[in-house]
Amino acid sequence: MFKIQTLNNISVTGLNRLPRERYEIASELAHPDAILVRSAKLHELPIPPSLKAVGRAGAGVNNIPVDALSAKGIAVFNTPGANANAVKELVLAGMLLAARNIAQSWQFARNLTGDDAALNQAVEAGKKQFVGFELPGRTLGVIGLGAIGVLVANAARALGMRVIGYDPSITVRSAWQLESQVEAALSVDDLVTRSDFISFHVPLTEQTRHMIHAERLRVMRDGAVLLNFSRAGIIDDHAAVEALNSGKLYAYICDFPSNLLKDHPRVVTLPHLGASTHEAEENCAVMVADQVRAYLEDGSVHNS
Ligand code: MLT
Repeated sequence: MFKIQTLNNISVTGLNRLPRERYEIASELAHPDAILVRSAKLHELPIPPSLKAVGRAGAGVNNIPVDALSAKGIAVFNTPGANANAVKELVLAGMLLAARNIAQSWQFARNLTGDDAALNQAVEAGKKQFVGFELPGRTLGVIGLGAIGVLVANAARALGMRVIGYDPSITVRSAWQLESQVEAALSVDDLVTRSDFISFHVPLTEQTRHMIHAERLRVMRDGAVLLNFSRAGIIDDHAAVEALNSGKLYAYICDFPSNLLKDHPRVVTLPHLGASTHEAEENCAVMVADQVRAYLEDGSVHNS
């Protein structure tokens, strides 16, 4: 029996579905063996001397002081892949949202008032104002071909899109488990010049911060759409706003709240909902608890 402390908003629902004889969930624990978190920032907390492992119920580890913990011999686990389907589905929704002007036309429709004649007139105006476009034949560029990027790439192929992918750290096509018709881009520059939609699935690092900057926005296809369901900071938002204002960029779907972006008519911001499905929360909670349990029991590491 291990005591596991959950901080902040990890899905305790998910953990509660585990056999309770294996775990005890303590809300306050003076000497935890392990701490599991979803979004809580561990940088801000003292590291308890008893700590042996930290688990992050999610893919990214920006909220975990990995180097400081590793220096003390504390193991860090994350859950790559456990929420990949949830993120993929929201990316697909984001593409359709942009292509069919759903956010803008929804705003338009909810502000309508008047009798049937007035509403019919508004319907005609709306049909003209919100003409969209279809996905087959359009090109999706996927940057980052880990668990999520691969699912997004294959799903877009199934929708009839042309897909090109780029991943700086993986060069072996078979390792990507990609549809055979997913084409490899030579570089980020190569990908951005050839894509109608670009979806980002890389962690935020010094190498990826502002990966999309003014220069790259200038060489994008006219009317391109950016989808950032990864981390804020990967796109230079000031440059993106300029590109939206000039019409170079058609839309920007961003899974982060942002004061700069929230009122722009061609931007949709979300409160980081990519992984927020019941299924993904449960998958992440179970995976991270199992990994930490195995590590505490016999030192084995299952961080796949
Ligand atoms: C992730 O890194 O997988 C996501 O940020 C998960 C989350 O929303 O907590």
